[in-house]
Amino acid sequence: MNNHPLQEALLALPDNALESIISSIFMPSLFKALGFEPVEYIPQYFTGNGTVDYAARHNTPNDIFVQTKSNPHLLIELKSRNINLSDGSTQYNSTIKQIQNYLGADAKNCQSVEWGIITNSKNIQLFRRHGKLIYPATLNIEITASNILEVVTDIKQKIENPQRSLTVAVYNNKGGVGKTTTTINLAAALTWMDKKVLIIDFDPNQRDLTNSLGIKNLTEIFYNCLEDKENRVDISTAIIPFKAKSPKSSKQLIFDVIPADNKLFDTDESKLRQEIKINRLRQVLVGLKNQYDYILIDAPPNWRFFSQSAVCAADVVLIPTKHNSMSSLENAAITISQFIPEIQEYRKDGSPIALPIFFNGEKITEAAKIVAQKELDNIINRFKHDHNFNLLPYIYPRYTPAAKKRDIFELPSYASIAGAVFSRTPAAYKDKTAYDYYKNLAKEHFVL
Ligand SMILES: Nc1ncnc2c1ncn2[C@@H]1O[C@H](COP(=O)(O)OP(=O)(O)OP(=O)(O)O)[C@@H](O)[C@H]1O
Ligand SMILES: [Mg+2]
Repeated sequence: MNNHPLQEALLALPDNALESIISSIFMPSLFKALGFEPVEYIPQYFTGNGTVDYAARHNTPNDIFVQTKSNPHLLIELKSRNINLSDGSTQYNSTIKQIQNYLGADAKNCQSVEWGIITNSKNIQLFRRHGKLIYPATLNIEITASNILEVVTDIKQKIENPQRSLTVAVYNNKGGVGKTTTTINLAAALTWMDKKVLIIDFDPNQRDLTNSLGIKNLTEIFYNCLEDKENRVDISTAIIPFKAKSPKSSKQLIFDVIPADNKLFDTDESKLRQEIKINRLRQVLVGLKNQYDYILIDAPPNWRFFSQSAVCAADVVLIPTKHNSMSSLENAAITISQFIPEIQEYRKDGSPIALPIFFNGEKITEAAKIVAQKELDNIINRFKHDHNFNLLPYIYPRYTPAAKKRDIFELPSYASIAGAVFSRTPAAYKDKTAYDYYKNLAKEHFVL
């Protein structure tokens, strides 16, 4: 059987091909296989924050990309073959930093970009940008002549069908750290920022999210939806809109809720596991992914069916902690180094990833911050030594060897946040200060 031109191009590359050789032999075939014509990509594109090797976008009838050079959709950072892009290598990590810069907020010419690829023609990985966030959309894959068509077809399919939502699981194995409160108020703040949001109470044992919004539990619709593999139960029948009047204008603010479901609560864990696989929630949400900007899932404080399903359904995991609770920090470290990689292993598409931890709901003095930092440094060292896992980027995301920034996002303790459950309204809707706190959290991770 004849090889595909892309396979031929790959096979024609010398073992130590330099970037320029890969550019001339391989890249035209790669772009063609990704569905781009030569007038739809530009080499050496100035992003506004450095120059990326390629930018691409499909033409529209009156906008030819090579002419207007505006609004790229995909960026590709290309490396020579002697740059090691295998998982965990220093050069892989620095190439990820590079593509993150080109996809990031400072790349003023690339605000429309949704996708980034890094490749040296031996490895390839796709990244998605959603608002402020950049996360892997595939594993870092070793390409060979036998898998390249499949790998590139998968990337093409993803690039051509970007899902609107980012799905966020709010999880910490430790109880009482603010998972439910964060889910509700982040949803409220995002809604106020004109985002369309769905939240899911996936802690049916406690059903705190449902109760604190004054919504009725579902009896069994959500269970049926998850249990029925034939997809005969429409997920939209489980959705209840939560409406509130904007504190600032006459506008009505609405986010959607899938409340706690009684049958999910009544069914014991082993039966649940027999009937519902942990990737089922993820499958069910696919049908909603183009209706929302954000889907937030409130998970319970354990690592069992509900939390595993929530994390498996997520693109990213938001982990509230308390600076003065050793076990919340320890649990965050376990979630990042063990639970999330377990689910990554299961999903095999590079996600979900952990967002950097944040401190929730406690007053923090300078002295207390130093104590917490010491504790976190111990945890970082211990996980490096015992598990060969580098927690640093998940704890101090702004830390670099040059700028040893040890700041962690803090969502302050605030009485009206704690008191809001009694009024069945998110604090972020009732109180400007509370809104600002959650808006800052949204801006820290999600919204540009
Ligand atoms: N920023 C904050 N300021 C004041 N109170 C807060 C804040 N965040 C959370 N709380 C309060 O802390 C308590 C625990 O919060 P929450 O129920 O959200 O935690 P959780 O992690 O969901 O708990 P569980 O593990 O039981 O599900 C609640 O009484 C809540 O009102
Ligand atoms: Mg909770």
